[in-house]
Amino acid sequence: MTTPPPFPDSTPILPINGRNLAYAAHLLRAGGLVAFPTETVYGLGCDATNGAAVARLYAAKGRPHFNPLISHVPTVEAAFRIGKPTPLARLLAENFWPGPLTLVLERQPDCPVADLATAGLDSVAVRVPARDDARDFLAAIGRPVAAPSANASGQISPTDAEAVKASLDGRISLILDGGATAVGLESTILDARGETPVLLRPGGVSLEEIASVTGPITRPAKVDQQAPDAPGMLTSHYAPCKPVRLNATEVSEDEALLAFGKPLSGAAAVENLSRDGDLIEAAANLFRLLRLLDRTETARIAVMPIPDTGLGHAINDRLTRAAAPR
Ligand code: TXA
Ligand code: MG
Repeated sequence: MTTPPPFPDSTPILPINGRNLAYAAHLLRAGGLVAFPTETVYGLGCDATNGAAVARLYAAKGRPHFNPLISHVPTVEAAFRIGKPTPLARLLAENFWPGPLTLVLERQPDCPVADLATAGLDSVAVRVPARDDARDFLAAIGRPVAAPSANASGQISPTDAEAVKASLDGRISLILDGGATAVGLESTILDARGETPVLLRPGGVSLEEIASVTGPITRPAKVDQQAPDAPGMLTSHYAPCKPVRLNATEVSEDEALLAFGKPLSGAAAVENLSRDGDLIEAAANLFRLLRLLDRTETARIAVMPIPDTGLGHAINDRLTRAAAPR
């Protein structure tokens, strides 16, 4: 892994202008975490194509689980390079992008977004934000930027730079200050893979506005309006087909082993989350290695114990779901 820029003890706040954008883009491309204003709320951005950077972002937020993240891009063309456009998606893009609308699309075959940023799903959430300075920043980076709201897990979404600092000081590289955000609540999320839009989260674009362009919107019964962070948890997260056995301290020869640290011997196939016991590296590898082991000709996947600290919580949360009876 390349060494990312270290986090300063006190995270600087710089006004969002041409020179600072270039510096921030450089930090982000090097694997850093940069908070920036969008028209909805401040996002905590990282290089969406860099799994280790995405892992550091989850660690900085202290999220106890891997929620899939929105990839931010500067243009509609860039959005459709990572997610497959349907006629519905093109219609929505024409009417609402740039703007506070996120579309869930099927991943393009060559979509460079890291597995960890989509929580292993074969879909990707994309958005073209409305602010010119945010799009200038994204254009300077030249890669999709994964950005959840720039607050520690469990806190409310920040709408100015001071709120970001109060929540994440010392845990991120830089905060770009663009004053208070205009919309103040998160983007509306629609699944645009089918013929009619499916509402995953209400937000900055109203349902009336959307319906006036697309006709009726489907609202899955499962969407909990009280819990706007829930939709990602409700979608069918990637789960391996094979049974999963956790906390393995020995392994049999009909099993595939997902190791952490020094691998147990005797398995038919082995992949290692991190030989050095590094939880950031382990998080970045998690979904890819589960998929690899799932394709082996073995009876089940045995997983070695992962410490339940830091990112280990999120890793264990995901593995526990994978191991739950289905
Ligand atoms: O306005 C916003 O959307 C802000 C700004 C920074 O852009 N971002 C934001 O991100 O609110 P976050 O991470 O707090 O919320 C992202 C939501 C989550 O509820 C997640 O479950 C959902 O998007 N999501 C992401 N990818 C998804 C996917 N492939 N399928 C379904 N839901 C997805
Ligand atoms: Mg949030």
